[in-house]
Amino acid sequence: MVTRTKIKLDPLRIDGHEVGRVLITGASAGIGAALAREFARNGHQLTLVARRRAKLAAVAAELEREHYVEVRTIVQDLAKPTGPAALVKAAQADGPIGILVNNAGVIDVGPFAASRTDALVNLVNLNVRALTELTSLVVPGMVERGFGRILNVASLAAFQPVPSMAAYAASKAYVLALTEALSEELKGSGVTATALCPGITDTDMASEIRAGSAAAAKLPKQLVSDPADVAAEAYKALMAGRVVLVPGLPNQITAAWAQVTPHWLTRYVTGFVARRTDLLQKP
Ligand SMILES: NC(=O)c1ccc[n+]([C@@H]2O[C@H](COP(=O)([O-])OP(=O)(O)OC[C@H]3O[C@@H](n4cnc5c(N)ncnc54)[C@H](OP(=O)(O)O)[C@@H]3O)[C@@H](O)[C@H]2O)c1
Repeated sequence: MVTRTKIKLDPLRIDGHEVGRVLITGASAGIGAALAREFARNGHQLTLVARRRAKLAAVAAELEREHYVEVRTIVQDLAKPTGPAALVKAAQADGPIGILVNNAGVIDVGPFAASRTDALVNLVNLNVRALTELTSLVVPGMVERGFGRILNVASLAAFQPVPSMAAYAASKAYVLALTEALSEELKGSGVTATALCPGITDTDMASEIRAGSAAAAKLPKQLVSDPADVAAEAYKALMAGRVVLVPGLPNQITAAWAQVTPHWLTRYVTGFVARRTDLLQKP
């Protein structure tokens, strides 16, 4: 279901290229909505996607009111097998996609053995399959036009195995590895790929983790990022063609530690931490 708005601005150009539309998945809340605000502030034409129609419409109305940009909303469940292809078809009807933001994602916290199989399959379908399919459907057109930007939202969890969120961390490791490889393949094409790896950020997802764990709820607020700050840094990194962005010094230290520490040791430490908290207790 596509909703159209009336505002029309001159197309934005970067380095002589018409940028085209920015497609943002998971834009009804959290980091996705913050990214939509950041792109709108910078004058982009947006196509926003999520499942909750009312929340998506509220974000679109806010952006039109505050930033006078053209916003289209598409309600789509991207975890469904036909979701990504249907989305790209609907979005491209409005013009070429110049920037793809693969932000929609879900988490599953707790012991793997206690997780619902359908929740894990849904996680892989959204975090891995939909992201891959959307990227695959959009990149060839970008290469042909000689311009494009891909922003894939991974996580700090991408840098190490995380017992208590095993499938989530594995899905984000995939996103990081895919994006890094893609960035090399795309060199010289005018298209760049950037992996955004936030630490814990103040969104519904973070509230879900904190509500289910007394240990997570005690995390000092200095360690919890503001989605607006994450989005502002991500926009700059994307436009500069950076490959990996870890926003915030404490998160950068964690990522650096995981990269220089032998893998068996990071696994041991993350396992030790998870076992010492309530994160591995069965609900
Ligand atoms: N918050 C953190 O601490 C944190 C840290 C690192 C990385 N991340 C990553 O950042 C991204 C955004 O997370 P967030 O924290 O902003 O979470 P959030 O507040 O829960 O937002 C998730 C977004 O994804 C959309 N979504 C969920 N399932 C969908 C589906 N099947 N089809 C289409 N859209 C769907 C949701 O919209 P609807 O429900 O309306 O569909 C919502 O807009 C995720 O990839 C997450 O893994 C988050």
